[in-house]
Amino acid sequence: MNMAVNSNYTDVKNDIVVREKLDFQLDHSLPKYWFGDDPFLTRFFDGVCATFPEGERYFISSVRQLRDQVTDPKLLQEVKDFMRQEGQHGLVHTEFNQILQEQGMPIAELLAYQKKIFAWQLKNFSPEYNLAITAACEHITALMAECFFAKTETMADADYRIRAMLAWHSIEEMEHKAVAFDVMKVAKISYAVRASAMLYLTSHFTLESLRHTHDFLKADGFTLRERINFARKGLPKVFGPKGFLFPMAKSWLDYFRPSFHPWQHPAIAQYQVWLDTFAQTGDPIAAGEAFHQSGK
Ligand SMILES: [Fe+2]
Ligand SMILES: [Fe+2]
Repeated sequence: MNMAVNSNYTDVKNDIVVREKLDFQLDHSLPKYWFGDDPFLTRFFDGVCATFPEGERYFISSVRQLRDQVTDPKLLQEVKDFMRQEGQHGLVHTEFNQILQEQGMPIAELLAYQKKIFAWQLKNFSPEYNLAITAACEHITALMAECFFAKTETMADADYRIRAMLAWHSIEEMEHKAVAFDVMKVAKISYAVRASAMLYLTSHFTLESLRHTHDFLKADGFTLRERINFARKGLPKVFGPKGFLFPMAKSWLDYFRPSFHPWQHPAIAQYQVWLDTFAQTGDPIAAGEAFHQSGK
């Protein structure tokens, strides 16, 4: 395991590695319903992914607002690397958004709406609250690896290219998961602000994800009755006790412990498999595939 020294969690902490210009072969050969030919699951994931470029721009802005308070050179370097990783995520997800746009998804409308919301938050919430929202979101995105890749069967029906994109994004989220949190500590943001921002973020993100899923299925031409049927069958697959997001429940609750720190949760077991495969092949699809296959 790679070590970094800037925290009390040097035994579990991973380096933040900026990887640029990765090619996931996101082109028109992707199946429209790339998740097991399931329109609901596909459009749910598409809706979440579509929000990443604007979301990541907002994370960068909110950390930048309080970066001046950081004096530790190691944390300053981590802030820089965090921003560069998020920048790369934004680029790849923008590429994916272009494909969704060409499929007829209302991407331009979604992005315009998001721009408005994030601008509103930056203008009307304090810098501290904006950073706390970002730290909360970073905690949730850091759990993606555990949710989607801990068990091989979870993503077995997904297209290998999108699975690889999500694997790469997941492992980098894990690498930089404590950066916004550590800046929040430097800025002495209170527990009440941290906890309330997590509640705000979780409810907002859940509702928005469902709204985007609905809008995308509508844009696909499904009738209201079909959309209701999709939701009836699909919602338990996402939010139910055997659903995608259930494995994050405990880690989500941990965030509300006053003494919580992101590195109290170590990296996913097969993290090193991704690093080793990428080092050997330079191919993010091969690394994603090895990572996926190494689940339990
Ligand atoms: Fe990201
Ligand atoms: Fe992130």
